Formats: sequence, structure tokens, C-alpha cells
Amino acid sequence: MTSGTDAPLVRLTGVGKNYGAVIALRDVSLEAAAGEVTCVLGDNGAGKSTLIKIIAGLHRHDTGTFEVRGEEVSFASPRDALDRGIATVYQDLAVVPLMPVWRNFFLGSEKRRGFGRMDIGFMRSTTRSELAAMGIDLRDVDQPIGTLSGGERQCVAIARAVHFGARALVLDEPTAALGVKQAGVVLRYIVQARERGLAVIFITHNPHHAYPVGDRFLILNRGRGIGHHAKDEITRDELTGLMAGGAELEQLAHELDASATGRAAAAAMTKDAKDLGMTAEDGDGL
Ligand SMILES: Nc1ncnc2c1ncn2[C@@H]1O[C@H](COP(=O)(O)OP(=O)(O)OP(=O)(O)O)[C@@H](O)[C@H]1O
Ligand SMILES: [Mg+2]
Repeated sequence: MTSGTDAPLVRLTGVGKNYGAVIALRDVSLEAAAGEVTCVLGDNGAGKSTLIKIIAGLHRHDTGTFEVRGEEVSFASPRDALDRGIATVYQDLAVVPLMPVWRNFFLGSEKRRGFGRMDIGFMRSTTRSELAAMGIDLRDVDQPIGTLSGGERQCVAIARAVHFGARALVLDEPTAALGVKQAGVVLRYIVQARERGLAVIFITHNPHHAYPVGDRFLILNRGRGIGHHAKDEITRDELTGLMAGGAELEQLAHELDASATGRAAAAAMTKDAKDLGMTAEDGDGL
């Protein structure tokens, strides 16, 4: 490969994606470099998941270019993305709740010795040491993964991606379902992954989660990039303000809703008034 060493790990330029008549993304650009956290922010339906599905190899983009370390790619499957070192952690983690933590850590990539027997000792100790290296202190890697909190499970998934050689880590709303404390724990591991030199792409709709850990911010609104800023170019308040573009739409929807309710109420009142003979147009209420 002759890809440029200076090229960012992941670069999307002018990417567009349609689902039939729905334009999910239009002319979106993003760069994620090694040792940086790139945050993708946007409200519901903004196109965040569509964007990461393209990076993860689940969907193909219709327009624009997608480069990995300077080389143009178009993935046919998540396997292609993994082969290029791009690992994706989805919010609904594919774990087997009753299986031990170490078993989930190695799921699909089990270490075997002769005759196909699993090397359980190796997998246990590797899981323990990899989690420790990320600063995750688990009492017992034999406990079922289902007994861990949502935040801890996200952390195990992150450690797993790091162990299996990911160079870019894509996280789809890893903090969305978590309380304040657990979200803080996951944010700490995002920073750990960055310190280990990964390019982290962190999807969230929460500017308060993005701002402390992010180096760059891409804000999506209805499929378009409406801002791309390095951290020193934007304050937390400005970031929150940009996100509030979505909140304004929500407010509008509420107002429309309220006026629809209002219209219905007004119509009902008019009818009542008519039935009671309180209007000029009488004679038709029989
Ligand atoms: N498979 C699909 N088929 C048709 N339309 C889709 C499909 N997936 C997404 N869309 C549409 O594309 C747009 C972007 O959706 P996407 O899931 O990428 O948004 P999102 O930012 O991830 O939203 P959320 O915060 O709700 O997860 C939405 O209008 C959505 O309805
Ligand atoms: Mg989504």
C-alpha cells in the first residue's frame, strides 16, 4: 500500500446516501485522525446512524468519497471495515448475557489449541489484562456479562476492539442509555482509547458528553453537516446552541401540535354552540 502517512485514518468527502426517496445524508464531510476523538452530533433522524453504517461497512454511500488512510474504499460488508482496522460498537451490544465476560470478549475469535480445544486459560488471563490495561477493574472475568452494568459492558466492548487491533473505533451513542456516573465511566474509556492512538468516532446527541472528550465536532441536521469545528474554535455553549437548531424544530412541532389540538377544540366548540342554537345558522341541527 502506498497510502499517505499524513492522511487521516478515515475521511469522508461530500458523502450522500438515499433510502429510496428519503435523503438520509447529503454532502457530508468528516475526518477522523489517529489519537483524536471526532464527535458526530445531531438530533433524531439527523443521519448519524446512517453515517456510521457507511463507515462500518453495513451500507454503501451513493455519492462522494470514503477514504481509509488516503485510499478510496467502498465496503461490501462489516468484515471489509474490520480488515481495515475499523471496529464499531453498537448501542445494543451483541453479547450473550449468561456467558462469562472472557467468553464474550473472545466471541467469534476464540483462541484454540490442538484438536480445536479452547484455550480457556489464555482467554481468561488476556481478558483480565486487557481490561486492566484500559483501567477497568473487574473482580471476576468469570461472571456472566449480563451482571455488568450497561456502562461496564460498553467498556468491555471498547477494550475488545482495542485488543483485536482496531485503529479506528466507532461508537454509536454509547452513553445514551446511561446515567450520569456510568456515562462518565464510558467517557473515560473513550479518552483511554484515544491515548492508545486510536481514531475514535463518537456519535451522540448530547453536547455535554461530547465537549469534554472531543477534539473535533461535526454537527448534522436533517442529513447535512451544519458545522465542523476543532475544539479551540467552539465553546460548549456554542456547540449546545448549534444543537438547539434541532430543539427549535421540536418546539415548532409542539406548537403545530398544540394548534391542531386548538383547531379541533374550536371546531367542537362551534358545533356545541350550533347545537345549542347559539349561532346565526340555525335550522340545520335537527
Ligand atoms: N433503512 C432505512 N430505510 C428508509 N429510511 C431510513 C432507513 N434508515 C434511516 N432512514 C431515514 O434516514 C434518516 C436518517 O436516519 P438515521 O437513523 O441515520 O438518523 P439518526 O441521526 O441516527 O437518528 P437517531 O438519533 O434517532 O438514531 C431518517 O429520516 C430515517 O427515517
Ligand atoms: Mg441513530
